[in-house]
Amino acid sequence: MRGGYCSRVAGASPLLLGARLGRHASLLEECASTQEVVRAAAAGGAEEGLVAVAEHQSAGRGRLGRRWLAPPGQALLLSLLLRPRTPPERLAPLSLVAGIAVAESLPVPAGVRWPNDVVVGGAKLGGILIELDLLPDRAPAAILGVGLNVNVPAAGLPVTDRLPATSLLVELGAPVDRLGLLVTLLGRLGDAYDEFEARGFEALVERYEALDALRGHEVTLDLGAETATGIAAGVDAAGRLLLDGPAGRRALGAGEVVRVLDPAAA
Ligand code: BTN
Repeated sequence: MRGGYCSRVAGASPLLLGARLGRHASLLEECASTQEVVRAAAAGGAEEGLVAVAEHQSAGRGRLGRRWLAPPGQALLLSLLLRPRTPPERLAPLSLVAGIAVAESLPVPAGVRWPNDVVVGGAKLGGILIELDLLPDRAPAAILGVGLNVNVPAAGLPVTDRLPATSLLVELGAPVDRLGLLVTLLGRLGDAYDEFEARGFEALVERYEALDALRGHEVTLDLGAETATGIAAGVDAAGRLLLDGPAGRRALGAGEVVRVLDPAAA
C-alpha cells in the first residue's frame, strides 16, 4: 500500500531495530490474524521480540472468541512474541502490563478497563489479547496482540453490544502517524515487560491504578456461572480485580465487566 506504514517501515527499519521488542518485524499488507503469524513463527523457534504488523486482518480476533474488526490501513494491528521467564501461573497480569504501556503511549488521556480494554472517556479505543503457547516440547511463548483504532473515522468504527468504540482520529480531530505510534508503543511495551519480568506485577500496580477507569465505580461482572456486583477497588499484586460487595472484598482473576454504573450519572 503506497503511503501505508508497511512501505514506510520497510524503508525505515532502523527505527524499529532500536527497540528490543520489534527488532525483527514482519510487516504485512494483509493476513488472517497477526496472532497466527507470530504463533507460527514461535512454533518455528523465533526469538522474543518478533513483531507482526498488518494493515489489514481478514480474521482478526479479540478476547473470548470475539472478532476484531478494523478497516484496512487505519488501525494499528500487531502481535509480539514474548518468551517470559515468569512462570505461566504468574502470567495473568501480562494483559494489564500491556494495557499500561498502551495507554501511556497514546497522545490522548487514556485509561484501562480490567482486564484488557484501553479506553478514552468511557469508549473503547483498543484491546489487548494474550495467547499462551505452552506445549511441553518447546520454549513457552506468550503472543501479545494489540489492536488500536487510530485513524478510523466514526463511520468505520465497529458497533458492539459492549462498550461504544472510539479512535484517535475521533478524539483528536486529526490523523496520527501510525509509524511513530508503533515505535513509541514498542518502546513502552518493552520497558513495562522488562519491569514485570524483573519485579513482578507488584511493581506496576501504582501505574495501573493511575489509569484504572473502573476504580470507585459500581460494576457488574459476568463470572460464567454467576454475576458479581460491587465497587471496583483496584487490582492486587496478582492482577486480580478487587470488588467490594455486600459479602466483603473479592479478588477476581477472570470475568467480563458487563455493566458500569457511573457515580456521576447516578
Ligand atoms: C480485545 O479487545 O478483545 C482484544 C483485541 C485484540 C486485537 C488484536 S489486533 C492484532 C492482533 N491480532 C488479532 O487477531 N488480534 C489482536
